[in-house]
Formats: sequence, C-alpha cells, structure tokens
Amino acid sequence: MILKNKVCIITGASRGFGKELAILLGQKGCRLVLAAREENELKLVAEKINKLKGNARFIKTDITNYNDIKQIVSLTLTEFKTIDILINNAGIMIIKPFEQMTRKECEYIIDVNLRALINLTHLVYLHMLKKGKGHIINISSIAGKRPSMNKAPYCASKYGVTGFSEALALECKSKGIKVTNVCPGAMKTHLFDNVDAKYKKKYVFMEPKEVAMVLVSALESNGCLDELIMTQMQ
Ligand SMILES: NC(=O)c1ccc[n+]([C@@H]2O[C@H](COP(=O)([O-])OP(=O)(O)OC[C@H]3O[C@@H](n4cnc5c(N)ncnc54)[C@H](OP(=O)(O)O)[C@@H]3O)[C@@H](O)[C@H]2O)c1
Repeated sequence: MILKNKVCIITGASRGFGKELAILLGQKGCRLVLAAREENELKLVAEKINKLKGNARFIKTDITNYNDIKQIVSLTLTEFKTIDILINNAGIMIIKPFEQMTRKECEYIIDVNLRALINLTHLVYLHMLKKGKGHIINISSIAGKRPSMNKAPYCASKYGVTGFSEALALECKSKGIKVTNVCPGAMKTHLFDNVDAKYKKKYVFMEPKEVAMVLVSALESNGCLDELIMTQMQ
C-alpha cells in the first residue's frame, strides 16, 4: 500500500504505540488526525510530526463518548475531505484476579476497548462504503488470541476486537474495504503503569517503536494483510 497522502485517523495517539505509529506514518506522508483525551500530549505529537514536514491535526477525544467520536469523523472530513485508513488503537488494561475487579472496571474495559472501537468503525465504515475503499486496522492483542492470567475482561475485550475484525473482513471483501487485526505481545508503554509489579515481572517487553515499524512496513509491502501477530522471542 502506498501511504503517501493517505488520510489516517489514529485513536490513542497521545502516547505509547499510537504515538510511535503516528510519527512513523507522518514520516511516510500520511495526513493524520490524532485522537485521545490528553490534549497537551496530542499537541506535542502533532507538533513533532509537523516539524518533520508531516501533516497532523489532533482532537481531544474520549472515545467512550459518542459525540466525541462523531467529532473525529467530522474534523477529518472537514480538514481532509476523506478517510482512507482508520487505526483503532486506544485501549486500557487492568491486570488483577477477577474477584478483585469492580463491575465499573470490567465495564470500562469493554467500553473503551470494544464498544467505542465498534462505534467509531461504524461511522467511518459508512464513509468508506460510499467511496468503495478504505482500510480499517484494529489493534487487538495477543490477549485477543490466547487466554492470559488475571486479565479476563481485557481478554474478553480483545477477543471481541479479533472477532469483530474477522467477521467484518468477511463483509468487506466484496466492498473494497480491508480489515487488518493486529495482535502485539507486551510492549513498553504506559499500559502497564498501574499494574502491580508482581504481575508485571512475567512479561518480556518489546519496544513500541520497533513494533510500529514492523506494522508500517508490513502495510507498505502488503496492504491486504488480514492479521499480524507480533510477539517477542523468549
Ligand atoms: N502495551 C502492550 O503491552 C500492548 C500489547 C498488546 C496490545 N496493546 C494495545 O495497544 C493499544 C495501545 O496501547 P499502549 O500499549 O500504547 O498503551 P498506552 O501507552 O497506555 O496508550 C493508550 C492510549 O489509549 C488512549 N486512551 C485510553 N483511554 C481512552 C479514551 N477513553 N479515549 C481516548 N483515548 C483513550 C490513551 O490516551 P489518553 O490517556 O490521552 O486518552 C493513550 O493514547 C491498546 O489498544 C492496547 O490494548 C498493547
């Protein structure tokens, strides 16, 4: 896939994997709309991209808020007239035994990681359908392919993303729209900030920049990937 000039929305672009992806895609010439809640962080990412002669806008968004989601789409269409790529990356994780999780925590994981992703995809999909082309990239997780201890609601949300990606891909095939499900293993990002050290120590972490480089080069060399699993050699 040629990335130059493609209009791309990235959620969760204020830090971590989304930020690294945004910088790389900016360098490849994508025109970007970056969304997340932390406006100052987003602004810094957009400034960095624009200083490198990229073209990035940003919008403060809580993706659990449907009005905010609609604003991402309308800003993108106002600024760039089209949407070529949607990268659903925003996500949260809580690691602890299920009995220690509150109902609120369980619901919030599903709200951010799955419900919001489906809602934004739906709006963007309607636009892509009219154009007869587009690419939806969902950042699931290896926890969306295999069970993982003390992460039952997170696994449920990510298995949900994987299932959504696979099923939507079947519908999209004849409509010119591609769906890629991305399943990284553990990366050194802020996702683990609130995880207790006793759970954290079993992970081997990859650098988010390196994982982002693999994803971008995979997209450049084969735009038809339906799934990309990236885990660290043990
Ligand atoms: N790190 C890993 O080990 C790993 C492994 C596999 C998959 N993943 C997936 O990779 C994706 C990116 O995570 P990360 O590792 O880069 O973690 P991170 O550093 O914590 O970044 C998460 C991003 O999601 C955004 N976000 C969270 N809640 C949001 C909300 N309600 N509305 C809008 N944005 C929201 C955050 O921005 P604000 O706080 O500014 O809103 C931030 O930009 C997630 O989907 C995660 O599940 C991560």
